[in-house]
Amino acid sequence: MIQTVDLFTGWTLFGGLVLGLGAITARWFILPRARRDAPEIQDGTWALGYARRRRAAKVGAVGAALTAVGMLSFFGRQLRDFRDPFVPWAEDAGLLLSTSWGTTWKVGLAGTVVLLIAMVLARRGSLIGWSIASVAALALAAFPAFTGHASGVEDGRTIALIADWLHVVAAGAWIGGLATVLYMSRLGGADEGGLADLVPPFSSVAIAAVAVLVVSGGYASWLHVGGLQGLVSTGYGRLLLGKLALVGVVLAIGARNNRVLTSRLDTEAGSVAMRRSATVELVVAQLVLLVTAVLVRTSPM
Ligand code: HEM
Repeated sequence: MIQTVDLFTGWTLFGGLVLGLGAITARWFILPRARRDAPEIQDGTWALGYARRRRAAKVGAVGAALTAVGMLSFFGRQLRDFRDPFVPWAEDAGLLLSTSWGTTWKVGLAGTVVLLIAMVLARRGSLIGWSIASVAALALAAFPAFTGHASGVEDGRTIALIADWLHVVAAGAWIGGLATVLYMSRLGGADEGGLADLVPPFSSVAIAAVAVLVVSGGYASWLHVGGLQGLVSTGYGRLLLGKLALVGVVLAIGARNNRVLTSRLDTEAGSVAMRRSATVELVVAQLVLLVTAVLVRTSPM
């Protein structure tokens, strides 16, 4: 049965991580390749580059705050599942925190706090802030692997954990990167050709991220479902099929944006069409995250 707490916990945790990872993708892989950020074109572009990095850091800070909410909700849900009605809540919470799950959670929460502080520093222009935020976001991307199905795999656990980590990083680079690009391109309210400048470097990142998502997601599917039979005969498999259908929609919108709309970005109408289409892509991606939130709580057996 689908529970609101699962949807809330999964969406805040995954959504927050995706935004944090998207911000660092924008900082290191998209902005340095945007034409108007190139150091050789100096008149006025430094100011623009600075303002864009501030915006990227703001997305990262919102992502960190959302991750913190997800972490707290995750703990609450785990405590509810773990609860012994004959023992006081505080005692149960202490016991839960002393388990290996509790240790992983404490590390995750500490990483989230570090990410938040580092993103606030990055927003003030600190390069050290960006560096710490990047390490924290990449480390936090492993949190779902260590607390989910991947950690329960018996044969090839290390590969399963790495594949899961890569899956989350790639989801962040693509979906979080897109959210950050959309937000950065709205500087000053007017478009100022921001999308024409930012979409081409984003596209190459997105194509690489999709390749990693398909390979790592395909591997996890094979690991948890076993084969085509399991896709239709188990609840987990059917949910995965639902996720794949939604991923197909996101991919189709992304492909159209890439193939058709990118070449029209030099016109006002083209930018408006791209903004609208990319927003729909982001909304459908949230549905993917919601289905994933239920998937990770469903037994693959
Ligand atoms: C070909 C495409 C994809 C396939 C086959 C796929 C498959 C999977 C599978 C099997 C899992 C493991 C769930 C579990 O632990 O039980 C998973 C997790 C996940 N997927 Fe995907 N996925 C795909 C695309 C995407 C996309 C586009 C997104 C982002 C919008 C995404 C986000 C996630 C997240 C956040 C997790 C959670 C990781 C965890 O809890 O360990 N996936 N995916």
